[in-house]
Amino acid sequence: MNAPAPPAENLRAALAGLLDGLPPRQASQAVERLIASYRGATPTDAPILRDRADVAAYAAYRMPATFEAVRAALEAFADAVPAWVPGAHTDLGGGTGAAAWAVNAVWGGKRPVTVLDWAEPALALGREIAAASPELRDVRWQRSRIGAALTLDSTDLVTVSYVLNELTAADRTALVDAAAAAAQAVVIVEPGTPDGYARLIEARDRLITAGFRIAAPCPHSAACPIAPGTDWCHFSARVSRSSLHRQVKGGSLAYEDEKFAYVAAARFPVEPAANRVVRRPQIRKGQVLLDLCESEPSLRRATVTKRHGDLYKAARDADWGDAWPPS
Ligand SMILES: C[S@@+](CC[C@H](N)C(=O)[O-])C[C@H]1O[C@@H](n2cnc3c(N)ncnc32)[C@H](O)[C@@H]1O
Repeated sequence: MNAPAPPAENLRAALAGLLDGLPPRQASQAVERLIASYRGATPTDAPILRDRADVAAYAAYRMPATFEAVRAALEAFADAVPAWVPGAHTDLGGGTGAAAWAVNAVWGGKRPVTVLDWAEPALALGREIAAASPELRDVRWQRSRIGAALTLDSTDLVTVSYVLNELTAADRTALVDAAAAAAQAVVIVEPGTPDGYARLIEARDRLITAGFRIAAPCPHSAACPIAPGTDWCHFSARVSRSSLHRQVKGGSLAYEDEKFAYVAAARFPVEPAANRVVRRPQIRKGQVLLDLCESEPSLRRATVTKRHGDLYKAARDADWGDAWPPS
């Protein structure tokens, strides 16, 4: 018997079929409409994903990237909590279910999952896509609005991916507080922009005040050492481009890099990385330059040379976002 396809491949195949039957021009127009809605000030008073064409465009165009970003954040979190496997999972503003797929890719197996969103067409399409995964067929797709009235059943893991941007400041606060009250662990992912980072830092501070410890990316739960406005902490996940991407964006690159910012926090003990590589390492002749965020809260550039032996070999393999030194 063949082994079941891993979640990432399963998802790719399910998404590839989504736009079948839709004329290519119509598909690119739906994507262009969507990009326009996310440009500038994102509306917070009514759903952006209004109908099947909007959500099919979202799923085909953005879901592979949000899936990879959430998966990368969850992998870093899993490294910091090696003995922990989430039971129940709740995904807030889950849309078409990218985070449910990502959780399943990191910790396989069936678990109770609730995906909550206010856009019914997104939930309906999420359910359709999830039919491709035996482990996601029983996901509960719940239509609710994130806001002051939001209450959540207790759960192990709450994920919030690419949602804070669509909420008012008051609703962001309500969401983080509701997540902190309900969950043992909270993972939040945002676009890797200065604004995305600023929203994350706000959420990070709230989680710490609520008694959480930061598991990743930060090597500590103290204040972020980046002086506000001078830089922003973010990472990069590689995403294979679909034919729709090539159609909309032109060019023939087989992949693109999704920039994202994240925070993963838990109420239980965590083992954060000693240091984290916070920029793409620079490989020079005989040396590697690593920009590190360190457990003694500070940012430092380390120069690892051939004289460091095995550590130099490890530095040549180190990637942006990795723990340093590798365990
Ligand atoms: C950019 S999409 C992200 C979807 C999914 N989390 C992902 O990573 O692919 C933002 C989602 O947040 C949902 N959303 C925005 N504001 C909301 C609110 N006030 N209540 C519930 N859902 C909301 C939208 O409907 C949409 O599905």
